[in-house]
Amino acid sequence: MLDKTDNTTQSTAGDQPATKRHKRFEALEKRDVNQDGFVKEWPEVGLIAMGSPNDPAPAIRIENGEIVGMDGVDRADFDLVDEFVARTAIDASVAEQMMAMDATEIARKIVDINVSRAEVQKIFTGLTPAKIAAVMDEMNVVEMMMGLQKMRARRTPSTQGHVTNVKDNPVLMAADAAEAGLYDYSEIETTVGMIRYAPFNALALLVGGQTGRGGIISQDAVEEAMELQLGLRGLTTYAETVSVYGTEDAFRDGDDTPWSKALLASAYASRGIKMRFTSGTGAEVQMASAQGKSMLYLEIKCVMLSKGVGVQGLQNGSISCIGVPASVPGGIRAVLAENLVTTCLDLEVASGNDQSFSHSPFRRTARTLMQMLPGTDLIFSGYATVPNYDDMFAGSNFDCDDNDDYLMISRDLKVDGGIVPVSESDAIAARNKAARALQAVFEELGLPRITDEEIEAATYAHGSKDMPDRDTVQDTKAATKMMEDGITGMDVVKALGRRGFTDVASNVLEMQKQRVSGDYLHTSAILSRDFKTIAAVNDLNDYQGPGTGYRLDGERWQKISDVRQALGPEDI
Ligand code: 5AD
Ligand code: CA
Repeated sequence: MLDKTDNTTQSTAGDQPATKRHKRFEALEKRDVNQDGFVKEWPEVGLIAMGSPNDPAPAIRIENGEIVGMDGVDRADFDLVDEFVARTAIDASVAEQMMAMDATEIARKIVDINVSRAEVQKIFTGLTPAKIAAVMDEMNVVEMMMGLQKMRARRTPSTQGHVTNVKDNPVLMAADAAEAGLYDYSEIETTVGMIRYAPFNALALLVGGQTGRGGIISQDAVEEAMELQLGLRGLTTYAETVSVYGTEDAFRDGDDTPWSKALLASAYASRGIKMRFTSGTGAEVQMASAQGKSMLYLEIKCVMLSKGVGVQGLQNGSISCIGVPASVPGGIRAVLAENLVTTCLDLEVASGNDQSFSHSPFRRTARTLMQMLPGTDLIFSGYATVPNYDDMFAGSNFDCDDNDDYLMISRDLKVDGGIVPVSESDAIAARNKAARALQAVFEELGLPRITDEEIEAATYAHGSKDMPDRDTVQDTKAATKMMEDGITGMDVVKALGRRGFTDVASNVLEMQKQRVSGDYLHTSAILSRDFKTIAAVNDLNDYQGPGTGYRLDGERWQKISDVRQALGPEDI
């Protein structure tokens, strides 16, 4: 921090302002970037992105086919995270062989287009957390991006959007979900301002989302029991916010263990609901339980633990803790590294970019290019499809007002950022239809009335400031009753059908059927508009250099090229 009170002494330190101010430094201090917070490395508390002096050196000890020591710790002294990782995430039969490889050699294999994804993954089945950290430390960000391009599970990149609003207004939420569908988000996620609104928010995303495009999957990030119930009822179709941590203390803080998280994961999967875990650098520091270890080292344990549980994917990239790695040297590189590790362990990655961390548009963009350029399974694990003031996940790195900037970057670089341009008239039509569909469902299910005035407002709204207020007491009572009455996705199908919203009804029904077939439980599964599974089984990433892997071309490239702002010969 600058001390502007003492103007008498001439400062000699390079970072202190002199008595007479250099006007360029004064100008710099007013820039967006200088509203951000930065700290120096402080390894004792874990404020260090990679390579803490307290991180262990890579080592493995195997006796009778079992891991009896890992990264300098004997099995008797393992904490519960180590125990779980050693038991479930490392293949003891190959560990000695893989650990004997040089970290540089493994890093080179990640980058080398002549080495297949499968070969790298095989190596990673035998590495310890410290070894993986050492491999990452050999790579610069361009090499990591090369790695992500090859190692991500699904060939076709995609993205996830946040659909929330401060008022938990269901009409607006349905309209926003529909518009997100037009932009081609494959996943939409909501959460609540008021917890008791959770069932309505799930309903709004289900109805609105399936109005925008068939096959969009939706989730409602709330307290675990409610979230699971919403899924079991068919009101949501995936789950993601099941948090895991890299130290035992952090787990204990939430009365959890890796085993309890595994149980929860299988509850979802057993009912045909796509599920992934959430973790990310900085969480343990924030919970004061980093034990002086680097953020990346601890995050690698989270990734391995997720792999060991058997869950198909992970949302990481710091997530809600992004302010922590972003404040230290090399922090954004570590965030990229954690995404890369996730893919090397053959998990789907929903790669963050989902919380605002900087006032500077340059820093925000640079951070996102790390995942946007190589492409990931879900580049954003929450792009705010709404204005950031309505983003109840505390604002995203990009919001709806950034749509044209993001799409132009995609067009400039011929890179698929996961979304396509949308016309104003299509957006208006989809929003209006979603709002009317929800009005019909509310009426059919005996929920509080949605007025035509609300529909009109939601159709054209920028955000919740443009919406009339609803009676929240009446709404939340009805939402609770809706759960007590056992309303399910099938009731929503019937309600839509009775009121003539046949196409939306059939899409919602199709989502219920998906849960029975279970196809979208495959690693990195998303659904096309006609409900075809696109996953690592039928769309496996086969990138091995120029001429291979995903290429942005054909109809999709045309869509991204043909922006409404571009002039043609007929306009000149
Ligand atoms: N580690 C673990 N869980 C996280 N979440 C967000 N960031 C992290 C992280 N770094 C989870 C929290 C939050 C939800 C949005 O995701 O549970 O409620
Ligand atoms: Ca998310």
